Amino acid sequence: MSRLIIVSNRLPITIDTVAGGELIYHPSAGGLATGLNSLDDTMEKIWIGWPGKDIRSDWGREAIRKDLAEQDLVPVFLSKKEIRGYYEGFSNKTIWPHFHYFTQFTTYNEGYWDYYKAVNEKFAQVVIPIIQPGDIIWVHDYQLMLLPQLIRHSHPNVSIGFFLHIPFPSYEVFRILPWREDILHGILGADQIGFHTFGYMRHFLSAAYRITGHEHNVGLLSVGKRAVNVDVFPMGIDYEKYAFANADPQDEEVQKIGELAKQVKLIISIDRLDYTKGIPTRLKAFEQFLETYRDQHGKVSLLLIVVPSRSNVDQYQELKDQVDTLVGHINGKFGDFDWTPVRYFYRSLNFNELTALYTSAHIAMITPLRDGMNLVAKEFVASKENSKQGVLILSEMAGAANELTDALMVNPQDIKGMTTAMLRAIQMTPSEQERRLVNMQSKLKVYNVKHWANTFLNDLKQLNQQHQNISRMESKQLDAMYAHFRQAKNKLIILDYDGTLMDFQPDPQAVVPDDELLTMLRSLVSDTGTKLVVNSGRDKLTLQEWLGPLGIDMAAEHGVWIKRNGNWFVNPGLADGWKSEIRDVLENMVQRTPGSFIEEKDYSIAWHYRRIDKEFGEKRVREFRDVLLYLTANLDLQVLEGNKVVEIKNAGVNKGKATINWLQESDWDFIMAIGDDHTDEDTFKALPADAYTIKVGLENTAARYNVLSVKEVRQLLRRITEI
Ligand code: UDP
Ligand code: G6P
Repeated sequence: MSRLIIVSNRLPITIDTVAGGELIYHPSAGGLATGLNSLDDTMEKIWIGWPGKDIRSDWGREAIRKDLAEQDLVPVFLSKKEIRGYYEGFSNKTIWPHFHYFTQFTTYNEGYWDYYKAVNEKFAQVVIPIIQPGDIIWVHDYQLMLLPQLIRHSHPNVSIGFFLHIPFPSYEVFRILPWREDILHGILGADQIGFHTFGYMRHFLSAAYRITGHEHNVGLLSVGKRAVNVDVFPMGIDYEKYAFANADPQDEEVQKIGELAKQVKLIISIDRLDYTKGIPTRLKAFEQFLETYRDQHGKVSLLLIVVPSRSNVDQYQELKDQVDTLVGHINGKFGDFDWTPVRYFYRSLNFNELTALYTSAHIAMITPLRDGMNLVAKEFVASKENSKQGVLILSEMAGAANELTDALMVNPQDIKGMTTAMLRAIQMTPSEQERRLVNMQSKLKVYNVKHWANTFLNDLKQLNQQHQNISRMESKQLDAMYAHFRQAKNKLIILDYDGTLMDFQPDPQAVVPDDELLTMLRSLVSDTGTKLVVNSGRDKLTLQEWLGPLGIDMAAEHGVWIKRNGNWFVNPGLADGWKSEIRDVLENMVQRTPGSFIEEKDYSIAWHYRRIDKEFGEKRVREFRDVLLYLTANLDLQVLEGNKVVEIKNAGVNKGKATINWLQESDWDFIMAIGDDHTDEDTFKALPADAYTIKVGLENTAARYNVLSVKEVRQLLRRITEI
């Protein structure tokens, strides 16, 4: 059975020491710990993380290690300085505020960064010796963004997933961080990277492209020799646990909560004490509500549960003072002997109390200013499985808002809007409450935490499978091919040019063949038993200028022009009268898209966007696709979408058709074709099954083999010239 190694900053169990040094273990709060802890046991699971306390003595650490081992938990102990620099510092004074768009709180401190690096390294030192063949490592959250790369370094082939539980900010915000590049490289050490929402994923891909230059193809990036999958996996909850929780009726607290809910409409608010949760604004909205709707006095209470969190970080301490003051202010202003408007608890709840609150409350008001997901919202909805009565007021800034679309959605900064939502919630008919809850519950039942984890892990496994299916040309296959080449007498080599022999450049005319390439091609041609063909999409003039002196055969413009035995001829029956009409459309595209340009060839015309943002270019292509298809349909033309280029050319001409010219020329006993673009797929398909067809890149292909880069192509050709 393969094992799952979960790594997160915090273990699902936190330690407290009481006077006398006795160790007390209690469940950790927060979405990550509570969510992952509900995973089923179909896989052997080991969880590595910090137990949440500065334990210094060796005997203390040993005792904890032993206790935790019984539950397959492995502690990573942190010193006071590490807690200050890595946890309170870089994680919670730099990344947490920055990724939640609280840039005014972002601390830029090189010393914190050093601790962050050192502690990520420390985690790596604990994880690495545990890894066995076949294990899956799943790293979680913003505290450990360097860890995937560190593990990858020592285990190049192990399967690593990374999940970010908080928002990934827009590129414009992310780029402000001086350590942005190292952070991205750290995350990109994983095989699969997961986010709660499409927005976070989009931001990550955009940052990866702009900062590290990795382009994606439907979420798939090529990073060095690996394919990295980036996708959206919204985290769910253990639905049954909340839907069928029976709070102990003997519990005094539970009874009191039940009593209170009978006297007033109970609005609950439950969060860690965190400035991202919007607690002060929520209190101000409640104040405004009481101000506006005086008839509600005595009929509604806000039960404010604030769970202590990160209390050594200054912003959290200031927030505590602010909340205390606001609660005092509201109660002082509106309360009387019989009614307390805000009931405020600054402590964590046990499961019994939590579910009693969820089931008894009439309304949950969850209005974070930013929140990666927010599980409390989902738990509240699930707890209404039985009664089907209750209203969720939810911030549109929570990741959960993407799924809980039947909540009363509010902008968490819009105090007036929140006030109105409270009144609407109080007045909502039972049937509307039921309808909304049932819709949300049906989603939460299916997309529960097991579904989340299983989908993530299955996709990761599938990715591994695909990796194995990709036939990388490693030394074994290469040696076999070289041996075949050595024996063969009649050899055909077909090579694409851009992206195969030369790397892409913003200016297509800058891709002049360098001396190394020319020497290599010359050497190939000099072998009398080898026919060398360059089969390119480029125009004939450029190819002739750059490669003509070599005297090789060529195909230009994807097979419009063919050069054989020193003479160029055009594929018969082609027209070029249509170009002016299409040129008008492409010129319009250029005008609308600064940085893009037109390339005109004899029998085709292309719009290039290699100098501009890829997504911007693709947007334009989408906009103009219909017009182009409409025009070309009547003109027997085809629209070809290549790598940052759209080309319009005569139908029925392609690199595959061009290939046939040479294929039929002789009885070849060795054929090799290399290309990177999807226009090269036609070449691969035109060749017999035993030809060495080689795709540059990791995308799906009709070729038999994959290599990763122009560099690898050149190494391969060099070896051939040495035979
Ligand atoms: N929670 C808890 N103890 C409490 C209050 C809440 O363990 O006293 C749990 C709650 O059930 C939920 C998690 O903490 O599962 C909070 O997750 P959420 O995603 O809402 O917010 P986060 O704290 O992760 O920002
Ligand atoms: C959020 C973070 C988690 C973190 C939790 C509690 O959910 O995404 O990584 O564990 O808050 O915060 P704490 O600092 O107490 O671990």
